[in-house]
Amino acid sequence: MSQFTFDAPTVIRTKRDGGRLSDAAIDWVIDAYTDGHVADEQMAALLMAVFFRGLDRGEIARWTAAMVASGEVLDFSGLPLPTVGKHSTGGVGDKTTLVLIPMVAACGAAVPKASGRGLGHTGGTLDKLESIPGLRTDLPIGRVREQLTDLGAAIFAAGQVAPADKKLYALRDITATVESLPLVASSIMSKKLAEGIGALVLDVKVGAGAFLKTEEQCRDLAHTMVALGAAHGVSTSALLTDMSYPLGAAVGNALEVAESLEVLAGGGPPDVVELTVRLAEEMLTLAGVDGRDPGQTLQDGTAMDRFRRLVTAQGGDLSVPLPFGAHTETVTADRSGTMGDIDAMAVGLTAWRLGAGRSRPGERIQAGAGVQIHRRPGDPVVAGEPLFTLYTDTPERFAAAMAELDGAWSVGHTPPKLRPLIIDRITS
Ligand code: URA
Repeated sequence: MSQFTFDAPTVIRTKRDGGRLSDAAIDWVIDAYTDGHVADEQMAALLMAVFFRGLDRGEIARWTAAMVASGEVLDFSGLPLPTVGKHSTGGVGDKTTLVLIPMVAACGAAVPKASGRGLGHTGGTLDKLESIPGLRTDLPIGRVREQLTDLGAAIFAAGQVAPADKKLYALRDITATVESLPLVASSIMSKKLAEGIGALVLDVKVGAGAFLKTEEQCRDLAHTMVALGAAHGVSTSALLTDMSYPLGAAVGNALEVAESLEVLAGGGPPDVVELTVRLAEEMLTLAGVDGRDPGQTLQDGTAMDRFRRLVTAQGGDLSVPLPFGAHTETVTADRSGTMGDIDAMAVGLTAWRLGAGRSRPGERIQAGAGVQIHRRPGDPVVAGEPLFTLYTDTPERFAAAMAELDGAWSVGHTPPKLRPLIIDRITS
């Protein structure tokens, strides 16, 4: 397409004024942004226009296809194992990928997992995994294929597939344009459709810590993504899951790896175990692997064994201690009672303020920054005992982090209304 057919100001203006983008305009703008002809500030303006004006289903499908076409589409059809993928729409304390991928691999399916970094108030799998000393996620595709053959799992930086998403994802993270149904759907599905998988399970988060807040918006997101998967011949289902509270008790990169290791060792918080096992069951069903109980792999050590092999294959060393923030502050209970709701969004932002996420492009994050939650909603609390421990390497961050957490939790006399973790299952 000639570089004179379209121009960024016209595309931005069309969407800003509530118009519809043609297929050709979408193809052009994604292509021109990926190769640098459309500048970051122009794409930031377009993203903000999309944030406010939205994209219809046809525009989303084309935007996603253009993102897929921006890079390589992997092909694992020659592998002896069925391939299956998973992606979450983003939550707080959501470390399920770290446990799920080795679990599913231990049950006999192969998982090529293209992952991203932290986004907004949520953490990213790459940042979490890279808190393991030495571990690399910039795997060449040949290496991904070898790992899938040898151990059924590889977790790698998504940039090689859908490079348009790599740029858009980083730009959305620092321009407050994350919380948009079309942008979340296209970001996730472009990576997944380029991953070369036969089946896909989506974990669509609902509630305070999710990017889209209402159940209705999240259902719409789930249906949109399931339809995109089906249209590309990938058998796709989605679980709607609760993200009102952080998942588990650890929020922050190294803290979440430590909690994942507890789960892989057969312990850990029950909500992390429940969600991971349910997602694994769904993945195995879609992949056509019958008769395996993924929960058993946490008890018999086979999931832990796969995780260790994955870490070693990617250059990581679990014998070196994980880096936890050098400075801590503790929030203690000022009264006895029952722990009430804990606002997932506020805890995510607290971890971000402590250094777990970015506010500038490419900023170095602190692997050891984050929040450890000592009392979960509904737990009894005794006055004076610790409720949260905050970790950072830069103690000047504590004041803003404490302010973020202030008002995000309460101790009272009536237990909070606990919601089911798995809300619904959506298929095409
Ligand atoms: N995960 C992604 O990969 N992209 C989003 O936009 C949100 C969550």
